[in-house]
Amino acid sequence: MLEMNDVTFNYGNGVPVLEHVNVKINAGEFIGLGGRNGCGKTTVTRLLMGLEKPLSGAILHDGQDITRQDAAMRSRFIGYVFQRPERQMFRATVKEEVAYGPQQLGMSPEEIQTAVRDALEATGLTKAADAYPPNLNRGEKQRVAIASAIAMHTKCIILDEPTSGQDSADKDRLMALLTALNAEGMTILLITHDMDILAAYCRRVLVIGHHTKAFDGTPQELFTQRADLYELGLSRPEAVSLSMAVPDMPYCKSITEFTAAMLERLGGTRK
Ligand SMILES: Nc1ncnc2c1ncn2[C@@H]1O[C@H](COP(=O)(O)OP(=O)(O)OP(=O)(O)O)[C@@H](O)[C@H]1O
Ligand SMILES: [Mg+2]
Repeated sequence: MLEMNDVTFNYGNGVPVLEHVNVKINAGEFIGLGGRNGCGKTTVTRLLMGLEKPLSGAILHDGQDITRQDAAMRSRFIGYVFQRPERQMFRATVKEEVAYGPQQLGMSPEEIQTAVRDALEATGLTKAADAYPPNLNRGEKQRVAIASAIAMHTKCIILDEPTSGQDSADKDRLMALLTALNAEGMTILLITHDMDILAAYCRRVLVIGHHTKAFDGTPQELFTQRADLYELGLSRPEAVSLSMAVPDMPYCKSITEFTAAMLERLGGTRK
């Protein structure tokens, strides 16, 4: 559904940021985007969103060239959650904030009411409908930004490091929400420095290194086969290391999976 075709980009100061990047994101995928600090992850998503324009190459949506289309147009089909979601909130209440996108789309007042109600419910924000967005905590602000995308019925959500600086309960809650949205068909592209999240939730991982795509494959391939994880600014999740250290253990993408596999094995030996 979204494609970067041989995209080259810099910020106009001659310092190369991205060179000849080719990425194809299919409908329904759950993709993690990783790489060391400053490698160009946010830039990739800003290019997809239309907040930056490539120097050369093209951005496509459903096969159509949208390279010159602005961000406002693209927000009809791509939801974008900024690293600091408060920077994208301007209305006095959560429900007004979530209603803004549907209003811009020209939905009828009844459609807007239904879309906002459903989006707030899906993100667990019904009780916060009348709250002033700046007063919410970071996890809640992120959910407001996600609710805005849901209310616009976008097919894709891009999130820039949504879990950084959050406690584990907020993290789990956000990842459960994204998993549920993905199960309903939403395409998810998530920038993260969190290796556990890449392993446990993403079905495909893209890594940027040396100004271009350095890896594109499953988390299992990445964490078990790549010898240059450190150079790419990544590390092997503990659960994967543990499962690789125990002979004949299957690949485990989380500590929960590893513990279950160990318990099953212990149960098996006791019989
Ligand atoms: N507005 C800008 N003007 C000039 N250079 C920029 C600008 N924004 C980013 N850069 C540079 O472009 C490169 C890629 O930045 P980008 O923010 O995309 O990296 P990132 O992978 O998202 O980093 P992080 O992990 O720290 O969020 C970096 O070298 C950065 O310094
Ligand atoms: Mg970034």
